Amino acid sequence: MLSRVLCVCVFLSVFGAASSLSCRWMDGKFRQFSEEYLDLLNKMANNGTNSTEDAEVMQMVAFPSELYMQASKATAEDKLVFTVQVLEESAALLKKNHSSASWEEKTVDNFLNVVTRQAVELHSCIRGHVHKKNKKLHMSFKRLSHVLEQKDHSAESWELIRKDIERHLMRVDQLTSSLRPAN
Ligand SMILES: *[C@@H]1O[C@H](CO)[C@@H](O)[C@H](O)[C@H]1NC(C)=O
Ligand SMILES: *[C@@H]1O[C@H](CO)[C@@H](O)[C@H](O)[C@H]1NC(C)=O
Ligand SMILES: *[C@@H]1O[C@H](CO)[C@@H](O)[C@H](O)[C@H]1NC(C)=O
Repeated sequence: MLSRVLCVCVFLSVFGAASSLSCRWMDGKFRQFSEEYLDLLNKMANNGTNSTEDAEVMQMVAFPSELYMQASKATAEDKLVFTVQVLEESAALLKKNHSSASWEEKTVDNFLNVVTRQAVELHSCIRGHVHKKNKKLHMSFKRLSHVLEQKDHSAESWELIRKDIERHLMRVDQLTSSLRPAN
């Protein structure tokens, strides 16, 4: 009995999300792509950087948790809009000069491909009026970009940015979990 009630609830919530959003990509592919780019980003980790300097750079940027708090209360469509922006801003950042980051170019290219595809597919699910970019979110990525410039695109600054992007990508995974079938 309980399981039957549960089934109905799951069905309703899945159906509810799907009907208000109608985004097939969220049903299966999102999770797969999310795992793939997080995996690639993990491969790009650099544990040989100077942690004293890491801490210094860390103080220059604060993760915009409050923006995620706001986004978590937004509509399904606005959550997607927010997610697409995070993906696009992350990809743009990783295209900057990373010659000091000791990443394999193939890994970076794969990462960019997977993130970009995710962004394009999600974007195609967003209907209706033109959505404005979140200015505060944009500014927080802009600050990361400034850090890179100030630190001359050093290996240390890249490791920090990499961690920050990892955190962003994990947060959008959380943010959109309510839009996906339970699993
Ligand atoms: C990072 O450090 C761990 C041990 O702390 C080591 O096993 C791993 O191979 C290191 N990774 C790289 C890429 O150097
Ligand atoms: C790490 O960076 C700090 C500050 O830039 C510097 O004083 C220190 O010598 C560095 N340590 C190593 C092991 O490079
Ligand atoms: C990229 O950054 C490195 C220093 O990290 C610098 O030596 C190199 O000239 C830069 N390349 C470009 C194209 O700006």
